[in-house]
Amino acid sequence: MHSRQHNRATNPPMSIRTPKIVAALAVLTLQLACANPANDAKQPQSAAASGTSEPYRPRFHFTPDSGWMNDPNGLVYYVGTWHLFYQYYPDSTVWGPMHWGHATSTDLVHWDHQPIALAPDSLGYIFSGSAVVDTANTSGLGSAANPPLVAMFTYHDMAAEKAGSRRVESQAIASSLDSGRTWQKYAGNPVIPNPGEQKDFRDPKLVRDDARNQWVVALAVGDHAEFWGSRDLRSWKRLSTFGAGYGSHAGVWECPDFRPMRVQGSGDTKWVLIQNINPGHPNGGSGAQYFVGDFDGTTFTLDTRFAADVGDGKAIWLDEGRDDYAGVTWSNAPDGRVVFLGWMSNWSYAQQVPTTRWRSATTVPRELTLRLTPRGYRLVTRPVRELEVLRSGEAPIAEGALAGTRELDAHSTPDAVTMELELAFVVSRDAASRAGLELSNPKGERFRVGYDAAAKAYFSDRTAAGKIDFSPDFAPRVSTAARQAAGDTVRMHVLVDVASMELFADDGLQTMTEIFFPSSPFDHAALFSEGGDVKLVGGKVWMLAR
Ligand code: FRU
Repeated sequence: MHSRQHNRATNPPMSIRTPKIVAALAVLTLQLACANPANDAKQPQSAAASGTSEPYRPRFHFTPDSGWMNDPNGLVYYVGTWHLFYQYYPDSTVWGPMHWGHATSTDLVHWDHQPIALAPDSLGYIFSGSAVVDTANTSGLGSAANPPLVAMFTYHDMAAEKAGSRRVESQAIASSLDSGRTWQKYAGNPVIPNPGEQKDFRDPKLVRDDARNQWVVALAVGDHAEFWGSRDLRSWKRLSTFGAGYGSHAGVWECPDFRPMRVQGSGDTKWVLIQNINPGHPNGGSGAQYFVGDFDGTTFTLDTRFAADVGDGKAIWLDEGRDDYAGVTWSNAPDGRVVFLGWMSNWSYAQQVPTTRWRSATTVPRELTLRLTPRGYRLVTRPVRELEVLRSGEAPIAEGALAGTRELDAHSTPDAVTMELELAFVVSRDAASRAGLELSNPKGERFRVGYDAAAKAYFSDRTAAGKIDFSPDFAPRVSTAARQAAGDTVRMHVLVDVASMELFADDGLQTMTEIFFPSSPFDHAALFSEGGDVKLVGGKVWMLAR
């Protein structure tokens, strides 16, 4: 927090209503457009988004139309609508007085911008938080017939911070009786005043604990998480703390996500704490570690089939790339789904990245499942299936030896690469071979994501991917992730959207998310191998267009 620009000017609530974000892929080849009639009706949103004046605007990731965005907030699903709120400063492209921006979607793919939901007031900036559907109207803020949506957020009091007080951050609630369209701050705020122990006391994640008939909130408190409980969302008492002796403490704990999850293929339920931390990520800067255990209504205790891997200083990371931070899951999602969304950036350089009108995108929405693997409990991450509507021009990848590079020409567009790739290959164990996907442009810039057999690690290499000198922390080295899966067949599932790459490796057991900024669009995509035998055993590639 301290390194950010703290702009004391507060801003009046601003009302924006922009048209639905529609198709933004500026140039499709005639051939591909014909091959996919569903795309015919879709037009680029505006000249500004066409890829010439905004070369880094993604095509299918959420971005604010203008201004600064960081964490996703208040993710809640309600009667057919996925709500996305987010840390937002509309008046600048760097961090400033925080609002909750708002967008909605009925399919997790197309997002409608909505008016700002919460604006700063005399109690402070509106920092991160969460939202729930108070179905039984336990809060009394609605009625049984019209249950309220209740959001909890952190007030960050800049005046108190300037005065050197510890009581800078407190938790407050707001409610909505019109399905999340407008929000009323509660008159009795704050509902959890700062106890005066820690200045960092924020990012409430609400969860319903049905077995105990209570609400629980997880808070990030400096170097640990705290759990507080309530019957009515208004009066709260501290239940317990978690964190001493476990996980990484190389930075400040921020933005917890806490929820029960069914264990895939069994009748068991475990509680999962995703705990963001800045800095501390093994590849540098911000990242998300997670913990799996049991919650008895008071205390969160690690499961023995997880604890061994997260002794003091050790951590399991949700995403091993550098650009997935402050991610949290939707509450109230249908069919027991656990859908996750992250901020696709990193505090080490987020405010310097070379976009102009806006800064930052979210990751794609991702489905999380919990699996008991031979190594213990692990979260498995996949892009939500809804994204498949974006696919066109499916092409199989021929099996056989891959030597050197093999162009994926059909999936280049004149102004950008948007693509999805599923690739399976076998590398001979002892060879120093590397293989994967390479994006490049005529300027000789290139980005690579792949697997390095000698290092037994996935890697993402943006060191030569164009603009990197806006921050010394952006591309000091290649990001790596030691491979966790057993077996010789390496599986890579990759989404590319103009200025980002998301790798879901080995069916989602490992994830790497990284952004990049080529000085002219990456209009070539190719498979590459070097240093030894690589045998392709299958794959598919698609263009992705909204
Ligand atoms: C995480 C974070 C949160 C805080 C918010 C402020 O990125 O630092 O801890 O609530 O951003 O914008």
